[in-house]
Amino acid sequence: MERIFYVTTPIYYVNSEPHIGHAYTTIVADFLKRFYTLMGYDAFFLTGTDEHGDKIAKAAAEAGFSPREYTEKISSIFKSVWSEMDLSFDDFIRTTEERHIKVVQLFLQRVYDAGDIYFGNYGGFYCVGCERYFTEKEMVDGKCPDHDRKLEYIEEQNYFFRMSKYQQWLIEHIKQNPDFIRPERYKNEVLAMLESEALEDLCISRPKKRLQWGIPLPFDENYVTYVWFDALINYISALGYPDGDRFKKYWPYAHHIIAKDIVKPHGIFWPTMLKAAGIEPYRHLNVHGYWNMEELKMSKSLGNVVRPKELIQKFGDDQIRYFFLREMTFGLDARFSESAIINRINYDLANDLGNLIKRSFNMVEKYFNGQIPADKKDSSDLKVLKEKFSVAMEEYIKNTMAYRFNTGLEQLWEFVRFLNKYIDNTKPWVLAKDGETEKLSDVIRNLLESCYAVMLLLSPILRNTSEKVIEALGMKGCGLNENLLTLRSLKEGYKIRDIGILFPKMVKEETEKMEKSEARQTTTVAEGLIDIKEFAKVDIRVAEILEAQLIEGSDKLLELKIDVGTDKRTIVAGLAKYYSPQQLVGKKILVVANLKPAVIYKRTSQGMLLAAQREKNDPPILIEVSPEIPNGAKLS
Ligand code: ME8
Ligand code: MG
Repeated sequence: MERIFYVTTPIYYVNSEPHIGHAYTTIVADFLKRFYTLMGYDAFFLTGTDEHGDKIAKAAAEAGFSPREYTEKISSIFKSVWSEMDLSFDDFIRTTEERHIKVVQLFLQRVYDAGDIYFGNYGGFYCVGCERYFTEKEMVDGKCPDHDRKLEYIEEQNYFFRMSKYQQWLIEHIKQNPDFIRPERYKNEVLAMLESEALEDLCISRPKKRLQWGIPLPFDENYVTYVWFDALINYISALGYPDGDRFKKYWPYAHHIIAKDIVKPHGIFWPTMLKAAGIEPYRHLNVHGYWNMEELKMSKSLGNVVRPKELIQKFGDDQIRYFFLREMTFGLDARFSESAIINRINYDLANDLGNLIKRSFNMVEKYFNGQIPADKKDSSDLKVLKEKFSVAMEEYIKNTMAYRFNTGLEQLWEFVRFLNKYIDNTKPWVLAKDGETEKLSDVIRNLLESCYAVMLLLSPILRNTSEKVIEALGMKGCGLNENLLTLRSLKEGYKIRDIGILFPKMVKEETEKMEKSEARQTTTVAEGLIDIKEFAKVDIRVAEILEAQLIEGSDKLLELKIDVGTDKRTIVAGLAKYYSPQQLVGKKILVVANLKPAVIYKRTSQGMLLAAQREKNDPPILIEVSPEIPNGAKLS
């Protein structure tokens, strides 16, 4: 089999801006593109925007734009958000592009010429939100269950695609190719739809007198194409169907990724359309569940939306990508919450992975002067590690290819946790004390090699951290190959570089508090009275501000480097609205030096500065002290 991979996301409607649901699907596609590339495949990743139809025309009108201006505006927001998130799409298709329109018309003409499109009467209940007719069975109290809106009864003459003709063929195709639609529950869902009743033909046109914003039918100028018939074709128009090289090369390896909301168009309309046009079906339809926010389905119409960019600024890019892939069982719904994100960061990334790497690096520093120790003979340790690693790698690859991302990651984490135990069991500090240098060198080398191998496998997810660790070990990212399994890739004697803290821990309450309060760190009001002992617990000292800078992604917070006499440390202060960074540098201030550290915007804040306000909502004024008082002097 040729090593080729073609992955697509849905093309998103431009009736509102990207939210985390869109970001999830697009991040999964990006991960797979990078993963397959690492595996040595020629991989192509397509995303884009769906811009025709009633819904978009209405949204444009409401926003006071022409459909063309409106779609241009929102489509470019999607494109730039994905670019800012460094998502590696190879093409971005818009259904209003000429290259797409041409292919849709060609496709329609082919199916029409083959006799599979006819003219007829139609009456039915229509949902503008879904852009499709509903059968009586699908309606709930006369409403569309997804949009909670009353369905309109519409009767008109239209063109129909003879979908019913392909019902049997599709049933058989699905049965013969068990992973055509996966996970299985969605295959069963589609089969149930196909086997429970006769498939109706699909209405594929809209009269121009009702809707102009669409692709004109090539065989009747009074009609435009139904938006789903237009949109699905993006998957091949972007590849240059019918003659394009990309089409020939990638189409046989097509993987579509969608959520459960659009299973019917992808599982039934699209394969029958392809069949009618004489094109082979896609390889796989991969269906994931929904991210739910507080039990509510998150969608544009419901309004409770989280912006992907904000999420990444707050928690970090690698962290969010890991969370998405690890937290959701592909195919099932998952709950989205900040607290779940923080748990993944603190436990999986900081405790398990971050700690392993940090401990290993620290020991190289301590026992080998920062240099990668020599490769000792094949020890029994290495044999065990190689076996464990080879299972982990195989499971990770196998499960990723089957869209069981969380299982793949769990398997890899088994190995990570095993390595942490390996440190605890071999006790390098005892080996060092006892002068067992050969053994020590073996253990440390094994650890570094394992860190390298794990980070290489994770590089399609933890893009930044992997690069950092791999470079610090003197290596470059490279393809996955058998060599990795030897756990002997690093260069002896290479002086490793410092990696700092890879995944700072996050504190739940603190992040929430910081969001809510304006100048959190500057307003502490004591209620009631305290005794002198209580006051004595508070370590208030004089400190000097050495550096100050605005925290990217926040308009309130400044990161300050301060000298508290005993040490230099970082604190985060909500002063950005009142002081510029330049104003602050050099000032002598008072800080509470023994406050529990809190992680805010990925910085560990160690202390709180003191400020005063005239009234509750007035700007805080920093309490400054005379320059003669030395740094670290205690308030008493
Ligand atoms: O349906 N959880 O576009 P759309 C997970 N234009 N994924 C979600 C999600 C959630 N809560 N909400 C949305 C359309 N998604 C059509 C597609 S394709 C030829 C035409 C993701 O903007 C998920 O991928 O409504 C879902 O299938 C898609 O956004 C729907 O995007
Ligand atoms: Mg939708």
